[in-house]
Amino acid sequence: MGAKSRKSSALPPLVVAIPKGRVLEESVALFARAGYDIASVLGRSRKLVHDCDGLRVLILRSQDVPTYVDYGAADLGVAGRDVLDEQGRDLYEPVDLGIGVCRLVIAEPVDRPVDERSQIHLRIATKYPLLTRRHLQERGITAEIIKLSGSVEIAPLLGLAHRIVDLVETGETLRENGLREVETIMQVTSRLVVNPASLKLRGEAISRLIDRLHRASGGVG
Ligand code: PRP
Repeated sequence: MGAKSRKSSALPPLVVAIPKGRVLEESVALFARAGYDIASVLGRSRKLVHDCDGLRVLILRSQDVPTYVDYGAADLGVAGRDVLDEQGRDLYEPVDLGIGVCRLVIAEPVDRPVDERSQIHLRIATKYPLLTRRHLQERGITAEIIKLSGSVEIAPLLGLAHRIVDLVETGETLRENGLREVETIMQVTSRLVVNPASLKLRGEAISRLIDRLHRASGGVG
């Protein structure tokens, strides 16, 4: 900020937003293959901003990555398709990074399956109200959607909802909470997202990073 007119030698580092949690380690490995050593973000420190290898790396909640990139507080970020589609922001998505592979599913208790022919007032708990609504509309299903922020698998156990819509990676969380998958809504991977203004202002540096990440993620060219 305020540095737009500086000469290239004095340009500030590119700001990259990365989600904490399970995608963090995969991101570090991917950036390493692309030639950027950002491993210091994996340390035990509680620091949320790390200056490494010419990049300023921010460690954020996954849902906040698109917000930082959208407002230009970060030039680029790593964000899941789930979060991007739910938020619908206008970001440039040049690379599917192929990390954070999981899927968004509908699940229900093994011992209390929903009878879809019955006329119950169906309640579905989720962190993804828009994606859930869109999917139900496509199926012509009416349901009340209850927005939660995490640990969604508990909702059917306590009678808060009949079903949930949530991410599944290994399936362990569903199994351990007595739930089973009913339907997959979408396959999810993480993408590189770029602020459109940053791309204009810092085109050379960002294009180089996009290129390297593209190749490191197995993309062609
Ligand atoms: C995610 C997701 C599931 C779990 C699925 O939650 O929301 O709860 O991982 O993974 P699994 O199929 O490998 O068990 P996360 O750990 O990100 O935490 P959250 O529930 O607080 O969002």
